[in-house]
Amino acid sequence: MDYQEIEKIVKQRLSQKRYEHSKGVAKRAEELAIIYGEDEQIAKKIGILHDIAKEMSKQEGFHYAKEHGIQFDEIEQKEVGLWHSKLGEDIAIKQFGFTKEMARAILYHTTGNIKMNTMEKIIYVADKTDETRTMINREEAVQISNNNLDDGVLYIAKFMMEYSLKKDSLIHPDTVLLVNQLIEQKRNNKPYKSYNNIIEN
Ligand SMILES: [Fe+2]
Ligand SMILES: [Fe+2]
Repeated sequence: MDYQEIEKIVKQRLSQKRYEHSKGVAKRAEELAIIYGEDEQIAKKIGILHDIAKEMSKQEGFHYAKEHGIQFDEIEQKEVGLWHSKLGEDIAIKQFGFTKEMARAILYHTTGNIKMNTMEKIIYVADKTDETRTMINREEAVQISNNNLDDGVLYIAKFMMEYSLKKDSLIHPDTVLLVNQLIEQKRNNKPYKSYNNIIEN
């Protein structure tokens, strides 16, 4: 299915607001794909489709999951807002002909994951930095993520953790693992005084 066809179906299935967000994510994913040397057409397709399952009711989602053998982990079971990642991954493959690899970017777009490849990171970042996003300091997030993709992922993952905590939402362990991984990576890449050094000095 080409981008135009996917966009048409997304427009029919989602609210105007979410359709605008999806178009924004497609555009932002395209920008990031150009910067980081990934396929822009694929980035756009994943971007426009990433929230396809977001407006399913809890009941619809529950039935879809049951019918298609999708299992939610302990945290997902308690946070309905996380369901659309796994549901969207499955829908992308079965209804839109996405490859497993493309669909994995939809699977990881909400919580992030330590196994994310460049395209998956692009979609994760695009989802939080598209033009319709107002919850984050968008200008800063765009600047950081255009300069270094991992820095962008870390900035956003930290923001999302804080945002979830403020709302008393549960934090998915995948997000915690991702933040830890990127903080460690940053430490190892830059000269810094380790805890032991500080004590010795
Ligand atoms: Fe989403
Ligand atoms: Fe989204």
